Amino acid sequence: MTQLLNLFDYEQAAQEVMAAGAYAYYAGGVTDNITLRDNRAAFERIRLRPRMLMGIDAVSLETTIQGEQMAMPVMIAPTAVNRLAHPEAELGVARAAQGAGITQVLSTFSTTAVEDVVAAGHRTWFQLYMAYNREIVERMLERAESADCSAIVLTVDLPVAGLRENLNRVGFTFPDVLARPHIDEFGIDLSGGWGVFVRDHTKHNLSWDDVRWLQEQTRLPVWLKGILRDDDARRAVDAGVQGIIVSNHGGRQLDTAIATIDALPAIADAVGDQIEILMDGGVRRGVDVVKALALGAQAVLIGRPPLWGLAVGGGAGVAHVLEMLRFEIENALYLCGCATIADVDRSLVC
Ligand SMILES: Cc1cc2nc3c(=O)[nH]c(=O)nc-3n(C[C@H](O)[C@H](O)[C@H](O)COP(=O)(O)O)c2cc1C
Repeated sequence: MTQLLNLFDYEQAAQEVMAAGAYAYYAGGVTDNITLRDNRAAFERIRLRPRMLMGIDAVSLETTIQGEQMAMPVMIAPTAVNRLAHPEAELGVARAAQGAGITQVLSTFSTTAVEDVVAAGHRTWFQLYMAYNREIVERMLERAESADCSAIVLTVDLPVAGLRENLNRVGFTFPDVLARPHIDEFGIDLSGGWGVFVRDHTKHNLSWDDVRWLQEQTRLPVWLKGILRDDDARRAVDAGVQGIIVSNHGGRQLDTAIATIDALPAIADAVGDQIEILMDGGVRRGVDVVKALALGAQAVLIGRPPLWGLAVGGGAGVAHVLEMLRFEIENALYLCGCATIADVDRSLVC
């Protein structure tokens, strides 16, 4: 058994315990995996310029996003079908997020009902894939609102599914037995798998009109997830959304799309502090979080690492993943001469 000292160790340990198909579904990217690899490589290319002699006694990781207190600038990214990893599934993640004092973004394709996740978690946002059938969307919004979610995250980078060749290769399809409580009530047949669902149900011609429509349907703040360009970020400001998530879907949609940490600075320059900016993609180390903050994100999200934690040790595994990341961020801030998140500025990176 791999010694579990960091988030990479968790991925290796998860691979040892997971069924090959399920691991491939979580780990994989699209076609040649160039963006998947570049999300990491781009973080590794960036160097820090730490400040010395700052007389720091203690480091605080606390921050606020949309006015909500968070114990550290890390959130759980929405990931589909957590039950492939462990029976505790999204509930195990929720309990770990509660322990760590951070927000969990729950996927449309969650295998646990939003009501149960909100009850167990610290704070829950709901991720939405826009369906053609407005009734499906209205029902999901109604459930998210009455369950007490505090934001809606519209994923904008999936008008069609990316080309997940690795799944064809291993012949992976989702097991029929997994319930998807947010879509099952519409009697949608999922036996054809993810690609068929996207083909038949998600809105291919998603546009800024849909963003406006969504804002009219919900009283909750709306975030756009999957923005990679400064001009799109400016349009998001004009649309009056709460914020954007700079994301390439963990390298799972358009291969050779820009690494998110490379896309971030231009976006941050374009929008300033007019709306909030989060980012995800390849965040595995405390120093990655510091780099993302330095380049203009208010916080990051992590997608795969909580899944590896879940696979290895259920909710306790997720909690360990979050503790390790927390410890690394604290260490990195100390060594960079920053006592708080607000002390992190662009001069720290080169
Ligand atoms: C297995 C898996 C399932 C995902 N499912 C969703 C989803 O349902 N909705 C969504 O908006 N993003 C989804 N994503 C993308 C993540 O929210 C996030 O953008 C990405 O995982 C971040 O990169 P990282 O895994 O390197 O941290 C998924 C990612 C993975 C790995």
